[in-house]
Amino acid sequence: MNLPNFALFSGTANPDLTGAIGHALDRRVSPSRVEHFPDGELSVHLDEPVRGQSVFIVQSLAPPVTENLFQLLLFVDACRRAAAGRVTAIVPYLGYSRADRRHARREPITASMVASLFQTVGLDHLVTLDMHTPQIEGFYHLPVDALTAVPSLCNEIKDRLSPGTVVVSPDEGRVKMAGEFAGRLGATVAVLQKQRESGTETKIIQVIGDVRDRPCLIIDDMITTGGTIANAIEALLKAGARPEITVAAAHGVLTNGSRARLCHPAVREVLVTDTIAPTHSKWPQLRVVSIAPLLAAAIQRLVARESIANLFQ
Ligand code: R5P
Repeated sequence: MNLPNFALFSGTANPDLTGAIGHALDRRVSPSRVEHFPDGELSVHLDEPVRGQSVFIVQSLAPPVTENLFQLLLFVDACRRAAAGRVTAIVPYLGYSRADRRHARREPITASMVASLFQTVGLDHLVTLDMHTPQIEGFYHLPVDALTAVPSLCNEIKDRLSPGTVVVSPDEGRVKMAGEFAGRLGATVAVLQKQRESGTETKIIQVIGDVRDRPCLIIDDMITTGGTIANAIEALLKAGARPEITVAAAHGVLTNGSRARLCHPAVREVLVTDTIAPTHSKWPQLRVVSIAPLLAAAIQRLVARESIANLFQ
C-alpha cells in the first residue's frame, strides 16, 4: 500500500484489533511501553521517534475504562511532547458516553469532561464508532468522525435472517439505528417503549409495531449487563413474537452476568464487533465481527487526506 508515512500505536485495551488494522494497512504497530509504578501510577513510553509525523493511537475506552482513558491521554501527551505532527485517537468504543447530561442535580457531565481532557492534552482528531448519542460530538472542539458498524453487522447477518424479520429498537434512543438496519435488510421496524423504574432498573411498557409471529432482530449500540436486551426479549415474546431472536450491537462490553441474561432459548445468535476485546470464548451463540477493515480504511483515507464519507454507506 503506497501511503505517506505515519505511525500506528496501540494502547493495551485491544492490541489484537490494532494488529489487525496494521495488517490491513501493511504497517507494523510502532513499539511502545505501558507500565505501572509500584504505587499504581501509569507511565507510557513511545519506543520510536514521532517528530513531525501523523500519529494514530488505537485505544478503546473499555473496562477498565478509567485506566484505559488515562493511558490514552498519556499517549497523546507523549506524542505532543515528542513533536508529533498530527495526533489522531482511534477510539472504537468511546466509554463514559452515557453520562452525556446531568441525570440529577450535583452530578458531572462526564462525556463533556472527557472531551475537555482530550483537548487539554492536544488531541487533533477523534475517530470513533457508533457513539451513544451523536450530539456528544458537540462537546469536542476538534474534528470527530463517528463511523458506524451497521453495514458490517448487516453484511454478516443478512443471509441468516428468516424472511419477515422485524428490526427492534430496545428503546426510543435507538430508533434511527434500527431504521438503518431495516433499510439495509429490507425489514420493518418495531420500537419498545422503556420506562425507568430506578437508577438501574427499567421496564418495557409497550411494543410499538407488529411483531406477532415474526422473527426479531434486536439492535443496540452496546450490550453491557444484557439487562436491556433481556427485557426486550421478554416483552417481544409476550407480544407474540416468534421465538427466533437475533441480537446485534456495535459494542460488546459484556460484563459478568451478561451471558447468563442473554442465554435464552429463543436467542439464535448474538452479534457484536471487536471494538472491545472479546473475552467470552465459550459462548456458542456469540459471533464477533471485526471492525478492523473499516478502521483501516478510515486511516488510509485520513493519511491520504481523502474524504471518508463513503465509509458510512
Ligand atoms: C442505553 O441507553 C444503551 O443504548 C444500551 O441499551 C444500554 O447501555 C445497554 O446496557 P445493558 O446491557 O446494561 O442493559
